[in-house]
Amino acid sequence: MTGRFPFVDRPRLWGTALSHYQVEGGDVCDWTEWERAGKTRGEPCGDAVDSWRRYESDADLARAAGANAFRFSVSWSRVEPREGELDEAALARYRALAEHLRRIDLEPCVTLLHYTHPLWFHERTPWTSPASVDRFGRFAARVAEAFQGLVRFWVPLNEPFVFLLGGFLDGQIPPGLSDTRVLRRVFDHLLAAHAAAANAIRERIPEAAVGVAHNMMAFAPERPKKFLDSLLVNIADRCYNRAIVEAFATGRWDFLIPPATRIRGRRDDLPKSLDVFGVNFYSRLHLRCPGVTRFIGDFNYRDASGYGLTDNGWEVVPEAFPALLDEAAAAGFPLVITENGLADEHDRLRPMFLERHAAALARDDVHGYFHWSLLDNYEWLDGYDPKFGLYAVDRNTMARTARPSVETFRRLGASFLR
Ligand code: FCB
Repeated sequence: MTGRFPFVDRPRLWGTALSHYQVEGGDVCDWTEWERAGKTRGEPCGDAVDSWRRYESDADLARAAGANAFRFSVSWSRVEPREGELDEAALARYRALAEHLRRIDLEPCVTLLHYTHPLWFHERTPWTSPASVDRFGRFAARVAEAFQGLVRFWVPLNEPFVFLLGGFLDGQIPPGLSDTRVLRRVFDHLLAAHAAAANAIRERIPEAAVGVAHNMMAFAPERPKKFLDSLLVNIADRCYNRAIVEAFATGRWDFLIPPATRIRGRRDDLPKSLDVFGVNFYSRLHLRCPGVTRFIGDFNYRDASGYGLTDNGWEVVPEAFPALLDEAAAAGFPLVITENGLADEHDRLRPMFLERHAAALARDDVHGYFHWSLLDNYEWLDGYDPKFGLYAVDRNTMARTARPSVETFRRLGASFLR
């Protein structure tokens, strides 16, 4: 049984998604340090695409593309640049954006943690310490106060599992640890932080709906006849996709991060802390075990479905989307696609990509779709090379130009919202 979608007056959302650091510019946080330390491949974020000053006109572009919803995130480092000290001007800036969204009738969807942290955070209250939970809950409370009467749809955490793996196992993103001993604790604290934020938000905004944006990945055996490749697919699916689904469905989790880290825990208030389950879906990985380059297995993108790879080499595989939605639906919450999109500068694949993914939305339990992204933006480790925008951005002039797929997005939106 699927739970009811909370917004009776707006049963379906069609929107675009972006995150603060990727578009705003001039935000000083752990990622800025990461760039300075030379740990990213692309250009540093710098001015990004200047949305801090252009948010309202960017929102107008989403409206012009037929959206009725707008997903963005609040920068913790702007709001709380020093521990315990709030920057009221930053909060007022975000409030002005939310007011504008209401004015042009876009439902705001607010993410509170989209990868970046204030500079003090990893030093003073890192995710390995229980204090992290309290700090995040306090941040959520302040933002909820600022957005009272304006924002109903809240996503405390973007891709907690990706953050766990990237930040604490691979060490590719801040805080850059590579330590299997902390994984269990960090996972626990992230889920506790989600629950603390949900409480803080609901206390201040009774009509709030709380979600999570969970990255789900399709997996396939690189050599379908090899037992070990298929075994690895099962392990990857269970850990990467299903662990979070189960955690929110049951309040319990027990899974293996290969090769041998067992993550087990329990949090009885977790199922009640969620109203909507958000899925971020992009692509599929082909797994090979044992790997040539990695002990447990290699993972690669390849064009098995024949649509052609995206500009950053990801497989386009809309056929894999329905099964992942089924996996997500198993938690029993109404679904929203919180991200889906591709890097495609010349719009070779985007119209088709949109069409085929939208086809998977024709089911009763899907209540929203947010395309990643509204604009070309800063793509983390890869800098500005991948172009994910419905609108292209010229970073010399900061001019925004609609790609042809804006029309596809508008047409599909009109039929989804009908
Ligand atoms: C997602 C991230 C988002 C963006 C897209 C391409 O995993 O949430 O910030 O980088 O990938």
